[in-house]
Amino acid sequence: MDTSNEVKIQEKYIAKVKKTNEGKKLKYNILTMGCQLNENDSEKLCGMLEEMGYQRTEDVKKCDIALFNTCCVRENAEDKLFGKLGELKKLKEEKGIIIAIGGCMMQEKHITDKIKTSYPFVDILFGTHTLYKFPEDLYKSIEEKRKIEDIIDIDGKIYEDLPIKRDSKIKASVTIMNGCNNFCSYCIVPYVRGRERSRNPRNIINEVENLAKEGYKEITLLGQNVNSYLRVEKEKNIPFEEYNGVNSFASLLREINKIDGIERIRFVSPHPKDFTDDVIDAIRDCDKVCKLVHLPLQSGNTKVLKEMNRKYTKEQYLELVSKMKNKIPNLTLSTDIIVGFPGETDEEFEDTLEVVEKVKFEQVYMFIYSRRVGTPGDKMENQIPEEIKHRRFDKLKKLVEKQIEENNKKYVGKVERVLVEGKSKNNELMLTGRTDSNKVVVFEGNNDLIGKAINLKIVSEHMWYLKGEMI
Ligand code: 5AD
Ligand code: SF4
Repeated sequence: MDTSNEVKIQEKYIAKVKKTNEGKKLKYNILTMGCQLNENDSEKLCGMLEEMGYQRTEDVKKCDIALFNTCCVRENAEDKLFGKLGELKKLKEEKGIIIAIGGCMMQEKHITDKIKTSYPFVDILFGTHTLYKFPEDLYKSIEEKRKIEDIIDIDGKIYEDLPIKRDSKIKASVTIMNGCNNFCSYCIVPYVRGRERSRNPRNIINEVENLAKEGYKEITLLGQNVNSYLRVEKEKNIPFEEYNGVNSFASLLREINKIDGIERIRFVSPHPKDFTDDVIDAIRDCDKVCKLVHLPLQSGNTKVLKEMNRKYTKEQYLELVSKMKNKIPNLTLSTDIIVGFPGETDEEFEDTLEVVEKVKFEQVYMFIYSRRVGTPGDKMENQIPEEIKHRRFDKLKKLVEKQIEENNKKYVGKVERVLVEGKSKNNELMLTGRTDSNKVVVFEGNNDLIGKAINLKIVSEHMWYLKGEMI
């Protein structure tokens, strides 16, 4: 579906706001919550704001626009937003700043209702499907001096060529699809991001080619379910233009692997149920595709997995892992795990620990189950008491940390290829980069190494980073 006209209309609004702002040196502050997809959306919001003449400030007290890009996957993001809004009230009264809130949380009616009643000073509310219209919403808020609510519930379209201001000059995220059709029973994403829809292969490849020309070295392909890229289009006969033979996730990986200048390709997140052999073969064959695969487990117990609507069993997950380990040399794995899903017993939780013991993940992102309004999980009667959830979380954390410590030892004495990302945050005199397996390596070196992939000898290990030396 061609949306270029809609994007052109927004370009006009960008020009109008820019004109209004001329010479005013206005600033914006942005707070992004949640996943890498949201971060990529925020880069687009920043791109629009900068084209409208705003400059970024990290100090919220100095801003003229305070923007929130929200997440609603877990409850703690809500607490954070309401806390920040409380703090901003004074700034709004003193300076008359514009406050805009967008993203996933705005697709939830109980949240927007709460904002309208408890925080009526917020100027703009926009949802996930109307992000591209932010310039128009901002223009109307400034010119017409009225509150704007721009939230729609239908499935959004795909908008190409929005302005973008990327956070890094070395690593770039490229969203390849939006939405999710899986309806895992704990998850709010399908309700707030709509149904799956994929970008055209040509647009993705052009974007990566341009990034390579700009000097980017690492690309992360993003989607809620990347390995079902173009699946819905094929199943429902929605026309898409095949480009250089790209008609699936595996063929997309192979095509991006050919782009000169790009050194590394990562992707998040795939779904274990859709991990087909062609994708495994592509990871094995493509030298630039990192051999760290994020494979969300969620639970290691078949009954809990069924209740979660994950569509695989403990055994199928373990079979997939061993197939991948056999086929892909040097494979490492990371995962997501939820503890305390409704009805999970101590014995069932032990299965999760057993899978963690067996697979030996490189990294585990651990979450305490959080009830989300509107999901089947929220309606289940056998919710787990907070105290038990926390006890399980601590037990899992202990196991994971023990494994990470053991695993880190394997790196010492080895030579690792590291993409150098910049100066270390904790020590200006050191540089930092990452291995193929996404481990942070800190080392002493010249600033001209930033952006290069180099071999480093790992000399010591620490819980969250490795220390390296030039060879
Ligand atoms: N509670 C806790 N964790 C959740 N996740 C998704 N929904 C919930 C929820 N309701 C976790 C899953 C997912 C990750 C992005 O967030 O593990 O993979
Ligand atoms: Fe949520 Fe499941 Fe979709 Fe991931 S696959 S976004 S966990 S519903």
